[in-house]
Amino acid sequence: MNNDNLKNLIKKQKSNYTLDQEFYVDDYIFNLDIKNIFSKQWVFVGHTSRIPKYGDFFLFNIGKESIIIIRDKDNKIYAHYNVCRHRGSHICLEESGNKKLLVCPYHAWSYNLDGSIKSARLMNDNFNKEEWSLNKCNLKIFEGLIFINLSDKPNDFNEFISPTKEFIKLHGLSNAKIAHRQMYPTNGNWKLTLDNFHECYHCQPAHPEYCKVHDKEYIIAYGAGSNTGPSSKKFDKILQNWNEKVKKMGHVTGEYSESEFNDYSRSAERTPLKEGMFTETKSGKPVSKLMGDFKEYDCGYTSVGTSPFNSLLMCNDFATLFTFIPVSSLHTQVELMWLVHKDAEEGKDYNLEEMTWMWDLTTIADKKIIENNQKGVLSKKYVPGPLSEMEKGLEKFKSWYLKHLEISIS
Ligand code: FES
Ligand SMILES: [Fe+2]
Repeated sequence: MNNDNLKNLIKKQKSNYTLDQEFYVDDYIFNLDIKNIFSKQWVFVGHTSRIPKYGDFFLFNIGKESIIIIRDKDNKIYAHYNVCRHRGSHICLEESGNKKLLVCPYHAWSYNLDGSIKSARLMNDNFNKEEWSLNKCNLKIFEGLIFINLSDKPNDFNEFISPTKEFIKLHGLSNAKIAHRQMYPTNGNWKLTLDNFHECYHCQPAHPEYCKVHDKEYIIAYGAGSNTGPSSKKFDKILQNWNEKVKKMGHVTGEYSESEFNDYSRSAERTPLKEGMFTETKSGKPVSKLMGDFKEYDCGYTSVGTSPFNSLLMCNDFATLFTFIPVSSLHTQVELMWLVHKDAEEGKDYNLEEMTWMWDLTTIADKKIIENNQKGVLSKKYVPGPLSEMEKGLEKFKSWYLKHLEISIS
C-alpha cells in the first residue's frame, strides 16, 4: 500500500456500503489513521478526579506516543510526552501512580512536574537546563474533563467545545468523581468498533438490557443519535411532549449535529428515557445523587459525541463516558468511566452494580459482536455489504473518515 493506491481505493468506496477490507486490516492505513485522524482531534482521556492529589499521574498511550498526565503542587495539571530529553527513554513506566519528581530510569535525569529539568548528572558546563524541558502535549480541561491533542497546530479548543458546551455543563461534571473505570480490550479495528457504536440496528438482537431502558421507537429512530435511523412519528410525539415539560423545568433540550464535511464530528442531544425510567438502571429507579443543574428528575438522556473517539452518555444522576483508543490495525481499547456527584458515597448514595449494569453488559456484548465481525472481515470472501435504514450513523461516520483521510494524503 502507498498513498497513490490508497487514493484509488478511497475513490472506489460506495456510499451505503461498508468499507473495503483494507480499511479494517491494513497497517499502512492504520498508521495514517493515527497520524492524520486521531492526532488531529481533541480527545477526552480522563477526569480530574482520577488524579486528585499533588503528584498523582496516569499515562495515556496512543500509537507510538505515551503521554504523562500529572498534577503539580499548585493543582495545575500538565501533559508531557513520556520521552526523556537525554537519549529518549520512557520516563514513567507504570500506568498510574504518584511522583513528586519525574526521574528517568536510564541515567537519572530528573524533571519537575511542570516538565523543567531539576538535575542532569555530570553534564558539562555548556549544558543549559532551560533548553531540555520535557515536550509538552496540548491539554485543556473543560468541566473536569481532560482533553489532549497530539497535533503541532491544534484546532482552537473553545471553538471545538462550544456547540456541545451547554449539554455537558448541565450535568455538572466539574463537581463529579469517577465511581468506576473499566477497560474492554476489543480484538477489532477501531473503525469496526465505531461502526458498531454508530448504529442501533444490532440493539434489538444483541442488547436486551439497553432495550429495557430505552423506548423501542427511540431505538429505531435515534438509537445511535438523531438521524441515524428511519423517522418515527411516534417518537417525535414523545420527544415533543417531553421537550415541553422539560423546558418548563428550565433544563436544556434539543440537539446539535453537523455535516460529515465539517472538520469535527460532533453531536449532542437530549431525549427522554423509556416511560417510567428515571435513569439507566434495571429497575429504572434513581441510583445516585442528582448531578449538575438538576433539582428534580426530568428522566432525560444526554448523548454527546465530541469526536468519534469519545461519547458522553449522561442521565440525571450519573454519567457513562467512553474513550475508543485505536491500538493496532486489529485491536481497540474501549475505556468506560462512570461518574457520580463528588459528594455521593458508595453504598449510601449509590450502588455501583446497579449503575454499571447496563453499559457493562452492553459493552461486553459489543466486544463479542465486534470481534466476530473482525474475524469475518479478515476472510477472502468478505466484500462490502449494503447498509440498512438503521445504519445512517455508520454511513455518516464512514463519509467523515474517508473525507479526512483523503485530504490528509492529497
Ligand atoms: S535517557 Fe533519560 S537519563 Fe538518559
Ligand atoms: Fe452495541
